[in-house]
Amino acid sequence: MTSMPRQHITQKKIAEHVQRLGELYPPIPLDSVDRTIKRPGLVAKKFGHVIDYLARVELEVDRNVLELLVLLPDADETNKTFYADVWQPQEIQHGLILDRLQQDLGRAPAKPHLDVSFPIRILGALAHLKPIQDIARLMYFLTGASTERQAVLAYNHINRGMQHLDETAISETIITPIKQQEPGHFAFYQMSATAMIQDKVLRPWQLFLTRVMREKSYHLVGTNQMKNFKADMGAVIVDLGLDRDLEGYAREVGRVENRLLWAHKQGMEFPPYILKALRESVDLYRERLERGLKLA
Ligand SMILES: [Fe+2]
Ligand SMILES: [Fe+2]
Repeated sequence: MTSMPRQHITQKKIAEHVQRLGELYPPIPLDSVDRTIKRPGLVAKKFGHVIDYLARVELEVDRNVLELLVLLPDADETNKTFYADVWQPQEIQHGLILDRLQQDLGRAPAKPHLDVSFPIRILGALAHLKPIQDIARLMYFLTGASTERQAVLAYNHINRGMQHLDETAISETIITPIKQQEPGHFAFYQMSATAMIQDKVLRPWQLFLTRVMREKSYHLVGTNQMKNFKADMGAVIVDLGLDRDLEGYAREVGRVENRLLWAHKQGMEFPPYILKALRESVDLYRERLERGLKLA
């Protein structure tokens, strides 16, 4: 496969991207939503769980901001503008809108998990050392790219599903506006990570350590390294039909990281730990289903 020649990503380009996102996409107001649901029972049955999951993850943006402050004590102006003026205000609205939708569907409100985990605190304590700070920054951008890509894919699938169910109001006034904001987030993380590699910010030992840490700590969006959430994510994967081609999904989610961290592994399509995480989630969900069947 030949890859397209890539443009050099300058800090100026990233700053302009952030500014454009802020101008193009103000946070979605709650009252812009048309709350008509034609068949709430059917929507809840098909997508209730997926909406619960996404509402929780979007509402956890406030924890993500805390993590970021811990991990990147020296964030520059562009990063600060992105998370404070663009990303957090957009994501929190996604969460509030989806949380209200799930309640309109008769489901319980989301319970976001807002504690910063212990490993992040440790890494944060070390991040005051410049070489570790650079590693933490690359890890943060790679996590962001992977997470936002998963969001883009999930919203694409849900939107098709809602259109299929003829739930026009949900599709046009909830999912479509949310879906429009996610690719810009993905692009920010993707550009930021790419710039760090292009500019050779990290020495070989730092890149080596980043690879090891990605292998050890990679997790899917919203699983927070917890078994229960991993099984929930497995249910999302199955409900969206993504389990039919887990490798294709791993390729989509892992493209950026494969190109930036693993280019020396000729012919590898995605980092193996991504497929492993996907399989683990699906397996945990199936085990839970079986346990449920046994109890019933
Ligand atoms: Fe979002
Ligand atoms: Fe996002």
